[in-house]
Amino acid sequence: MASNGPMVLCDGLVKIYKVQDLEVVALQGLDLMVDRGEFMAIVGPSGSGKSSLMNILGGLDRPSAGKAIVDGQDLLKLSSFALTRYRRKKVGFVWQQPSRNLIPYLSVEENVELPMIIAGMPYKERKEWTRELLEAVGLWERRRHTMHQLSGGEQQRTAIGVALANKPVLLLADEPTGEVDTATAHVILETLRYLNREYNLTIIVVTHDPRIADEVDRVVTIRDGKTSSERVRRLRAAQKGEESGAEEAEEEEVSYHEYVVLDYAGRLQIPREYLDALGISDRAHIELTEEGILIKPAVGLDEVASQAARVSEVAESWGPQTRSRDWKIRLGDAGRGLRHLFGIGRKK
Ligand SMILES: Nc1ncnc2c1ncn2[C@@H]1O[C@H](COP(=O)(O)OP(=O)(O)O)[C@@H](O)[C@H]1O
Ligand SMILES: [Mg+2]
Repeated sequence: MASNGPMVLCDGLVKIYKVQDLEVVALQGLDLMVDRGEFMAIVGPSGSGKSSLMNILGGLDRPSAGKAIVDGQDLLKLSSFALTRYRRKKVGFVWQQPSRNLIPYLSVEENVELPMIIAGMPYKERKEWTRELLEAVGLWERRRHTMHQLSGGEQQRTAIGVALANKPVLLLADEPTGEVDTATAHVILETLRYLNREYNLTIIVVTHDPRIADEVDRVVTIRDGKTSSERVRRLRAAQKGEESGAEEAEEEEVSYHEYVVLDYAGRLQIPREYLDALGISDRAHIELTEEGILIKPAVGLDEVASQAARVSEVAESWGPQTRSRDWKIRLGDAGRGLRHLFGIGRKK
């Protein structure tokens, strides 16, 4: 049933909402690949398109264009019947408000068991899986409690159990720690980490919470509906001398690698801070060097030469009597771009 490719592949994904006469572009050509068994996070400011992406991956909404393939299934090509089946069987969804997954007057156990009953899971299998899930989310002892007898974190862990009732291959969590304190957020993330390890479950967590970054394998940042950078957590053997034993080399150390993401056309987004620091606005110099590609503010020689040519043209148009003193003063008005260029030149 499962194919061998990545769990999630988005290629040039576009989502446009039509609101009356307005079009809101929530995703503008987003690329994303998530491997099987990955526990990763998508971060980005409010309005950057995170929930739009999750709703598409969860089969709750249709993309406008591009590709969205989950576990080998092309979500753009599914009939609405097939999409409903996909939503029930393939993916589990956890929301910011656990109540979206829960029925308040049912117990923890009944909540988790309900989707299995609806899906027609045989009694014995259902009872066993419910128990296993409740143990996995740490709520077996509290299985008889109803929702209002639980803390926010316990409700969220119940919601995780409900999301996994039908044994999905992919768990999507949209701001699952949005309404809880740090300690509770940690417990929720630990629970997700456990499920990821124990069941090789692929998990995508969406958040604007920077605390999450340290708990997942990879963090992808989206800005304005496009993937812009990513940070990969690497576990590697601590550096050891040649002669040291294999046992010691087992020790692992965590390091992070920051990347910018190129889309399929080779476009990349340079972090705003870098552009601001260098004063790069609409164009830049690009140069192939031994170390890699160097991006510099556009103050190349030909740029300066063409500006200088323009300035002398302007000076000439003022007539032959213009003396250099006037010329300097008037340059102040005419040469805004030039001053800007020299300003950058000086910084270097
Ligand atoms: N149902 C909708 N109708 C119209 N616009 C929407 C809808 N959902 C989201 N948007 C708009 O799409 C953009 C992305 O929103 P969203 O995906 O919710 O971002 P995030 O989850 O990162 O905050 C925003 O500009 C938002 O206002
Ligand atoms: Mg959102």
